[in-house]
Amino acid sequence: MKLFKTCELLSGYLISTGRMMELDFSSVTSLLLAGTVTALLFIYMMRKTSDKYPPGPFAFPIIGNSPQILLSGSLAKFIESNHQKFGNVFTFVSGGSKRVVVSGYDAIYRLLVKNADCTSTRSIASMTPTIKIAAQKTPGVFWAPYPLWKDLRSFSISSMRDEGMGKSTLEPQLIEEIELFIAHFIEPNLNNPIEMTLGLSQATNNMISQMMFHRRFDYDDEAFKTRIESINESFSIGLKISMIGNLPFGKYFIKSAIERDDYIMHTILLPALQHLIDEHKDDLDEHNPRDIMDKYLIQSQKEQNEGKANHSYSEENARILAFQMYIAGTETTATALRWALLFMCLHPDVKVKVQNEISEHLGIEHKA
Ligand code: HEM
Repeated sequence: MKLFKTCELLSGYLISTGRMMELDFSSVTSLLLAGTVTALLFIYMMRKTSDKYPPGPFAFPIIGNSPQILLSGSLAKFIESNHQKFGNVFTFVSGGSKRVVVSGYDAIYRLLVKNADCTSTRSIASMTPTIKIAAQKTPGVFWAPYPLWKDLRSFSISSMRDEGMGKSTLEPQLIEEIELFIAHFIEPNLNNPIEMTLGLSQATNNMISQMMFHRRFDYDDEAFKTRIESINESFSIGLKISMIGNLPFGKYFIKSAIERDDYIMHTILLPALQHLIDEHKDDLDEHNPRDIMDKYLIQSQKEQNEGKANHSYSEENARILAFQMYIAGTETTATALRWALLFMCLHPDVKVKVQNEISEHLGIEHKA
């Protein structure tokens, strides 16, 4: 109602003046401003009427809750204050999209476990066309829709556990990697500042490669260095794409970032992973799987033999699954380690506690 009143008033103003051609600059500016405000209100009210989201703080048209987030000082503070006002479930608008905050064990359990069929599929709605097409064709585990996601997720987790994740069976490879890391990065630079980003990412990626392909790469290997730098770059481009790409017209501002991400994926990372997969196919022993990729290829063969059409364990999907493990596992773990090192430098008392805990659980002969 209010909206139509505003429109009526505006058109009344235009008609009653009857001298559009003679309007001076400030009148034109006021009219443009009023028109824009009306259009924004219209869009806002159209959005509100089709709203089935939980209640939340008032959101401005286009800019959503950005002003309140900025005024709160941080997203965390904004969420905390609205949690006090609206409870465990509420909606806010940021980057042009509605976000529902869910907190507390019961609400999260109901959302992710009881209603897994509705909530496990990641939305590709706000993704770029390239990502949309890729995600539909070869989703890996990240973009897989439910129930395929459940299947691939169980496969990934159980085969990572088989390969030693969270168990002592991975310890020999881990100790070997730490020793090589110390010899390559730490010992030659004792008493000098050390740039840890590349080295920690390489070491982390080697551990993922050990589980995935039973392989590690030398720190001096130039192609390996390029892959790691590309993984880190792709991770930060991904964040930029998901933040700016969600804003109205945002995709136009990140065209070059999207192109660069495509280049990294299709020219640097996927061909290298394909090479490793081809090697695995050549000497696959189905009675003696060495790593996650062998297990995947065996499962793939099994599904093909059973005549399953569109089976989830396709070779193309193997590449994407490996790619997602590399992207999701490398930057995150290496960054967490860098933060841990920084905190221990800043808080030597915590460093002593960490060392004591390691010695207590693993024994003092451990080099950690
Ligand atoms: C400190 C280390 C890590 C952190 C902080 C971390 C954080 C996260 C977060 C927040 C998500 C959810 C992202 C979302 O839903 O958009 C995620 C998903 C994922 N992570 Fe990690 N991660 C870490 C280590 C790893 C490692 C080592 C691997 C694999 C080797 C890995 C593989 C994955 C995969 C495949 C997904 C997607 C899972 C799915 O869609 O079901 N992550 N990680």
